[in-house]
Amino acid sequence: MVIAIDGPAGTGKSTVARAVAERLGFTYLDTGAMYRAVALAAQQSGEPPAEAAARMDLQLGDRVILDGRDVTDAIRTPEVTAATSKVAADPDVRAALVKQQQAIMATGDWVAEGRDIGTVVAPDAEVKVFLTAAPEERARRRAEQTGGDYATILADQAERDERDSSANRSIFEAPDDATPVDTTELSLDQVIEQIATLVTEAKEVGA
Ligand code: DC
Repeated sequence: MVIAIDGPAGTGKSTVARAVAERLGFTYLDTGAMYRAVALAAQQSGEPPAEAAARMDLQLGDRVILDGRDVTDAIRTPEVTAATSKVAADPDVRAALVKQQQAIMATGDWVAEGRDIGTVVAPDAEVKVFLTAAPEERARRRAEQTGGDYATILADQAERDERDSSANRSIFEAPDDATPVDTTELSLDQVIEQIATLVTEAKEVGA
């Protein structure tokens, strides 16, 4: 089974996807980490991002290992974050990574998190969730997580949303076949509960 969790940055996707995977015994796939790794690899080697995407040796798990090096923290710096949203707008990068993501998820049970999982990577996913949250709440969560300045984060977020939107069409609207979940006023447990209910329903339909 595949559970697709999409939505803009700061809606709690990673936390929710990890927690759902743990609760159900599924494997978690962070596709954002793959785009981040491409940005870092291209930045360090100077090669075109699409070439880096096609050639890189990436291992995803508790740690992110790129070409034998632990880049778990390096892919989350503000510089790499900014570079990533540019790299993610490159159709050749997207094509390479989507292919890799589909190969990874070809067997087994997955909770995959990103922007295009339910639409492009796994259009047949049994459960599709689209997380949203108010921009101020998204920035507030990021500031709390990173200790950064709220106003700066809010401004950077607006810029990144704009770039992510042009790369992936509207990133704020749930596709017709996804269940929208507005996390602004929900606790993590409430969000997990809603998704667990969707999974139970999907299993009943599939049984
Ligand atoms: O979820 P994240 O913040 O780690 O994502 C990093 C960047 O990669 C962000 O700019 C959106 C982009 N991304 C994407 O375009 N498609 C995905 N499936 C996942 C991430």
